[in-house]
Amino acid sequence: MGKILVTGGAGYIGSHVVKHLGQSGYEVIVVDNLSNGFKEAVKFGEFIEGDIGDDSVLDEAFKNEIEGVLHFAGSVVVPESVENPLKYYENNTVNSFKLMKKCAEENVKAFIFSSTAGVYGSTDKNIVSEIDPVSPINPYASSKLMSEDMLRDISRASDLRHVVFRYFNVAGAGSCGELGLRGRNATHLMKVCAEAAIKKREYLSIFGTDYDTPDGTGVRDYIHVEDLADIHVLGLKYLLAGGKSELFNCGYSQGFSVKEVIKEFKNVSQNDFLVKEAPRRPGDVGCLIAESSKLKDAFNWKPRFTDISLIVRSAYEWEKKIMQ
Ligand code: UD1
Repeated sequence: MGKILVTGGAGYIGSHVVKHLGQSGYEVIVVDNLSNGFKEAVKFGEFIEGDIGDDSVLDEAFKNEIEGVLHFAGSVVVPESVENPLKYYENNTVNSFKLMKKCAEENVKAFIFSSTAGVYGSTDKNIVSEIDPVSPINPYASSKLMSEDMLRDISRASDLRHVVFRYFNVAGAGSCGELGLRGRNATHLMKVCAEAAIKKREYLSIFGTDYDTPDGTGVRDYIHVEDLADIHVLGLKYLLAGGKSELFNCGYSQGFSVKEVIKEFKNVSQNDFLVKEAPRRPGDVGCLIAESSKLKDAFNWKPRFTDISLIVRSAYEWEKKIMQ
């Protein structure tokens, strides 16, 4: 059996998936440039420090027989992508192209790609399914959609089979207490709330209170990172068993508003931190919830963390831990 290459395996989602893959008996090789990742988060397998945009790094990884690839490496901050689109097209599209080209040359059969619910863009539908039209409204989502398109076309023209996972809002931290979201300059709501809850930041801003949602604040489908890691192991097994190329939304089909998330953090932390109202953030949509029955049916997936307080508690405990 060949090895499994995980790009971005030292990052937030990648490191959880590497752990689940290792525990499931896969031999893993991680490539990560450590721009957002941390070497100590790689709990299994071989580690190669480098950028997948660098041919010599890919050559080194492919000295091994690679049976499957999970591609997490990329940039993920929506407002940054609006300010610096070239960074996103380079890190997310150009580098994905290089990796896919290498996979085609090396005859890799199974490829899992981390995409985003952002590809649906601003839609009238509150719950989106995989057959709904895509219409990204920020460069981050466009850069991911271009990679989805490349993968689809390459798979049609070769033996490569792929699974695209469109993540909704990934949050929470591993129950082992060793893995979670690190990094300075947090922009994601759950992270910002956790920092406010432990008094690492003085306040947080609600970006937009005039959306067409029940309380006027943005609604998202938050999925716990360990549920997402389970999904990737299921996806890999599926492809290695000969499954055909597929595209899946990854979420719980339930939405929580910014105000609801804040309330949950205040409950869990017993800290009534300061909250300010601010204008909408560029590139944001009002409401985005996954229709996820396709994933549940295909893999018999049973999510474990659909209770928002479990997600919030794990994010809060993690933040307390890394403060020490
Ligand atoms: C975005 C993408 C998502 C992607 C994720 C990866 C879109 C529509 N969504 O998530 O697909 O997986 O990035 O990074 O492109 N908020 C505040 N105050 C804050 C921070 C956030 O009010 O300090 C609000 C936002 O306006 C939004 C919600 O909280 O309504 C969630 O924001 P965030 O956690 O940043 O994630 P998305 O932008 O939804």
